[in-house]
Amino acid sequence: MQNRDKFTTSLGVLTATLGSAVGLGNIWKFPYFTGQYGGAAFIVIYLICVVLAGIPVMVSEFVIGRRANSNPVGAFKKLAPGSAWYLIGYSGIAASFLIMLFYTSVAGWVYSYIFRALGGTFINTSPETTVGVFGKLITSYYEPIVWQIIVLIVVSSIIIAGVQKGIERMTKTLMPILFVLLLLCDIRALTLPGAQKGIEFLFKPDFVKLNREVIIIALGLAFFKLSVGMGTMVTYGSYFDNRQNLPATAIKVALSDILVSMMAGLAIFPAVFAFGFEPDAGPGLLFITIPMVFSKMPLGNILLTIFFLLTAIAATTAMMSLLEVPVAYLVEEKGFSRPTATIMSAVTIALLGSTASLSADAGSLLGTVKIFGKTFFDLYDYISSNILMPVGGLFTVLFIVWILGKKSLALELSNNGQLNNKGVVNLFYTVVKYITPLLIIIIFLDSIGILKF
Ligand code: PHE
Repeated sequence: MQNRDKFTTSLGVLTATLGSAVGLGNIWKFPYFTGQYGGAAFIVIYLICVVLAGIPVMVSEFVIGRRANSNPVGAFKKLAPGSAWYLIGYSGIAASFLIMLFYTSVAGWVYSYIFRALGGTFINTSPETTVGVFGKLITSYYEPIVWQIIVLIVVSSIIIAGVQKGIERMTKTLMPILFVLLLLCDIRALTLPGAQKGIEFLFKPDFVKLNREVIIIALGLAFFKLSVGMGTMVTYGSYFDNRQNLPATAIKVALSDILVSMMAGLAIFPAVFAFGFEPDAGPGLLFITIPMVFSKMPLGNILLTIFFLLTAIAATTAMMSLLEVPVAYLVEEKGFSRPTATIMSAVTIALLGSTASLSADAGSLLGTVKIFGKTFFDLYDYISSNILMPVGGLFTVLFIVWILGKKSLALELSNNGQLNNKGVVNLFYTVVKYITPLLIIIIFLDSIGILKF
């Protein structure tokens, strides 16, 4: 592949990468975790995890992708020929498929809620109606699958259009829209009488709630949030040109991602408290509490539509980066055309993903089928987030230190000597050599139950 499609501008690099990071993780996971695990205290721990594990793995992936100019499997084959390191690439492809199986399902619910909100389903709604609407959707035998297929058609069309004409162009348009819509929701939520309580709930540190489990949750969230440990950032890094400052890009993405998470929290919690709802509703927060909260506001219906629209945008740009991983592999390693590779991947995800859609609730068709004690839906999430991503992230930083080596790393981080950043290189090397692997090993062993403090 001599003429690989690339991102053409630094802005495109930033919006595409941020588009991958910002997703369903920001809109409900981050605010919900923050609320449940001690507000500002959790945010502090999360930030530490982002700095010591999330950003280092992201930079490492950029380095591997750009240096090899290749998809994750091809990249490790190129940089460490004749070794088994390319298996990290396959683990990434497996993880991206598994995440897509349930992520497209939840994204389908979000898409459907745009139209439900627009159609007035939640105007003057009661708790019973809201719970009923969500329950009916996720236990239906066909509706979630139809939406999941619609989601896949949207994402596939963008991916088929290419890295530049699809991913770069779409994220350049969509990310600013997402930001403005979120700002609108923030302004409305923060000007409600009683908003103060929600702000306190989010930002008042409560160190009493901090414990070992919280640290592990924060680290896991940092991985999922920044889309690292599964080849996404290797793939996107391979579309960066030699002028991009890799550490600076990772830091900008991480900071903007945190900003979006905070803004989502500020759109949700002040409103939740202002209308006397419970903040810790978990998955239901997005699909049950939010519609009820917005229905009580003046112009709530329009705002609710906007809220689900921005959530759909966030989820869609994240899914683009997930689908790009197998597509880049199939095109470069297996010689398929981009449309064929995309359609093959999307059809596989649709077929297997229906098992996630049909097992999202105990009342779903496959809701009682358990494998290793988990439903299909939970199993896909568990294997990808708790096993493949931490292991992938760990081996990625090990690869940087032990295989690529400090010299090549310094060349890549300084854009072949063009940037004068020796200090950054030294600091980065020390972190990926000692701190990041240790942190990941601890969370991984704990999450699979080998290590118990
Ligand atoms: N970062 C995305 C989110 O927060 C999820 C994601 C994970 C996307 C891994 C790509 C790769 O929703």
